[in-house]
Amino acid sequence: VARKFFVGGNFKMNGSLKEVETIIERINQANFDGSVELVVAPPALYLLKIQEELKPPAQVSAQNSYTEKSGAFTGEISPNQLKDANVHWVILGHSERRSLFGDTDKLVADKTKAAVEAGLAVIACIGESLQERESDQTQAVVERQLEAIAKEISDSQWKDIVIAYEPVWAIGTGKVATKEQAQEVHANIRQWLAKRVSQSVADQTRIIYGGSVNGKNSGDLASAADIDGFLVGGASLKPEFIDIVNSGN
Ligand code: G3H
Repeated sequence: VARKFFVGGNFKMNGSLKEVETIIERINQANFDGSVELVVAPPALYLLKIQEELKPPAQVSAQNSYTEKSGAFTGEISPNQLKDANVHWVILGHSERRSLFGDTDKLVADKTKAAVEAGLAVIACIGESLQERESDQTQAVVERQLEAIAKEISDSQWKDIVIAYEPVWAIGTGKVATKEQAQEVHANIRQWLAKRVSQSVADQTRIIYGGSVNGKNSGDLASAADIDGFLVGGASLKPEFIDIVNSGN
């Protein structure tokens, strides 16, 4: 099954408007065609401005959204508001949200359900900590995180999900997972999808890797059978992001 290579750039809470615009200008100049699905997630404040400036087919993504459509939820953005603003993507369950802002498996799953029901597509992040990896719990942790989501969405809604496997120990540390380490987890996730959801969802769902991806290691990782792209943090702010986007070719 041919799965379209997917690269997300997660700017996190980085950059001034001017700096973000400079990054976007560089991406525009690279003239990406539709052979890669490219999504960039600037800070929410800049989403609409960047959406105007970003050259299609690249798209913008939010970095988070809430479970409710509207109401007294100070500081939150609803998936329906993103949809209304033509922002088609949202990153949910990022490990920074989980560890710093209390996003539990259940909250991530509820946010995911609300987002897909509003018509958004979700980059759903999962991954184990170093301690969990060292105690051989990697598969159990990613399955628990995925099971929470599977309980909330229907089998047909998986078409709107990209799974981002991001081992916490690799995020922002410079310690990228080896191709073998990432491939092993990706293949296991795909097997889990086949068993828990369906073979066609397993075949079609993009499973992307995140954690210290850069312009030098992306080509090797991209050659693994079950690595369908990347979610890039730090390097998405740099010129090497262009090489990462091109690494699927
Ligand atoms: O969302 C992106 C990941 O957290 C990876 O971040 O590329 O800076 O390690 P990083």
